[in-house]
Amino acid sequence: MNDPRPQAWQRAADEAQRLRSTRLRDLLLGDPTRPQRFSRDAAGLFADFSKQRIDAGALDAMLALARASEFERRRDALFAGEIVNPTEQRAALHCALRGVGGSAQIRAEVSAALDRMRRLATSLRSRSLHGFRRAPIQALVCIGIGGSDLGPRLVCDALAEADSFPVRFVANVDPDDLARELRGLDPATTAIAVVSKTFTTRETLANADAARGWLAAGGCPASEIGQHLIAVTAAPQAAVDWGVTQARVLPFWDWVGGRYSLWSSVGLGIAVALGPDRFDSLLDGAAQIDRHFLQAPLEQNLPATMGLVSVWNRSLLQLPALAVVPYAERLRLLPAYLQQLVMESNGKSATLRGTRVERPTAPIIWGASGTNAQHSFFQQLHQGPDVVPIDFIVAARSSANGDERHRILFANCLAQSAALALGRDADDPHRHFPGNRPSTTLVLPQLDAGSLGALIACYEHATFSASVLLDINPFDQFGVEYGKALAKSVEALLGEHDGPAPDPSTAALARRFIG
Ligand code: F6P
Repeated sequence: MNDPRPQAWQRAADEAQRLRSTRLRDLLLGDPTRPQRFSRDAAGLFADFSKQRIDAGALDAMLALARASEFERRRDALFAGEIVNPTEQRAALHCALRGVGGSAQIRAEVSAALDRMRRLATSLRSRSLHGFRRAPIQALVCIGIGGSDLGPRLVCDALAEADSFPVRFVANVDPDDLARELRGLDPATTAIAVVSKTFTTRETLANADAARGWLAAGGCPASEIGQHLIAVTAAPQAAVDWGVTQARVLPFWDWVGGRYSLWSSVGLGIAVALGPDRFDSLLDGAAQIDRHFLQAPLEQNLPATMGLVSVWNRSLLQLPALAVVPYAERLRLLPAYLQQLVMESNGKSATLRGTRVERPTAPIIWGASGTNAQHSFFQQLHQGPDVVPIDFIVAARSSANGDERHRILFANCLAQSAALALGRDADDPHRHFPGNRPSTTLVLPQLDAGSLGALIACYEHATFSASVLLDINPFDQFGVEYGKALAKSVEALLGEHDGPAPDPSTAALARRFIG
């Protein structure tokens, strides 16, 4: 049977061409019912897509493209634990970590593994774990990078309080990162968690070795260092071989993608900082979105609509970037987290059929918190020649109840999206605002573990939804391998022995290294 996708793509491209000459201001002001028709809500989240450069015809074309791409079958396969990551022959069952999807056996294994993680977190929080001087452990340093760092770091930065159990994160192999995070800590009362799915990542193992050296230099005998070490990994034997006692290895599975892993034992830092109950609230928020994503018709499906809009902007309107601007200082790390989630998932050029993609895939994700961003890059967003779609994220209620500054924050978020969409004509070219700049506004009821879990799950499923239309594999990441391999040979070049340089520029730069 002939593939319906080329025709569906052509229909969507025709809609994009039609809308190129339509002004967002006319779409917005011409239809008072637009906000209702172009908004979706789920799990307490409200998403307003009415400031996107779409209309009913365009959205229908995107829905048709989703159906031509067998969206529902691909989504059901994801939740059923089928091999949706064919290049690595793996499932991608991060939803099972929240208790949705997968087999009963998988969910039982998840439950047991998370219970083990919760017990260790509770022991740390109750200060019933003791170090080599028999003093209670008072701080946890999590060493990991990429998906073994960004999610837990985001959630802890967003939700940890002043009196939370101290959890610090180290990712960069730059010695200054570990040094800075160890400042003020006592080796006798500090635990080190090495978080690495493969337990082979060079930066993480180099930092782990340095942290172990710090413990030893602080007086910890080799025979007692096990009391200070924890490993979170899908390679438990490698962790034991490195020196972590079996009882302190928290395992997870190869069907958990790194950038989808904060819901697993990788979330140890979250459970220690926030407590197991709030970790579970995070899971519950995500599970509500999982069920919505699985059950809601495409036309009402919030994450699926996010994915369709992403493909519409990137692949059809050909807008290269997406700015993520959370109007919540506690979500300042969200852009960095979404950079990995979206760009490492969908920054691909090969389709699942092995052919080269015919159009752009992932947007270049960047951003910063509002209102700060208004005083740094919003000038370009308003008057620069490039059109950059924006995801605004804001909480309806503030944790600082009644503080007028929350009203100022919320007002600025709405005002910016309106100004970008409507523009303002002026004879003076320096004071002309072209407008026609699209955005989505996501409103959380308040910022807490549940709403943050739901928000992150929305982006996970939006990323998957986009990959279905693009016919790419969102769950592998071979693109990171080449740089890693070259780094090994350049490292040798910088060391005592002269290795081959990949090119004359690198050879010249290598000569400037001072070890
Ligand atoms: O960036 C490449 C990558 O493999 C990510 O996908 C992963 O999250 C990160 O490196 C860390 O990998 P690991 O958890 O195996 O140390």
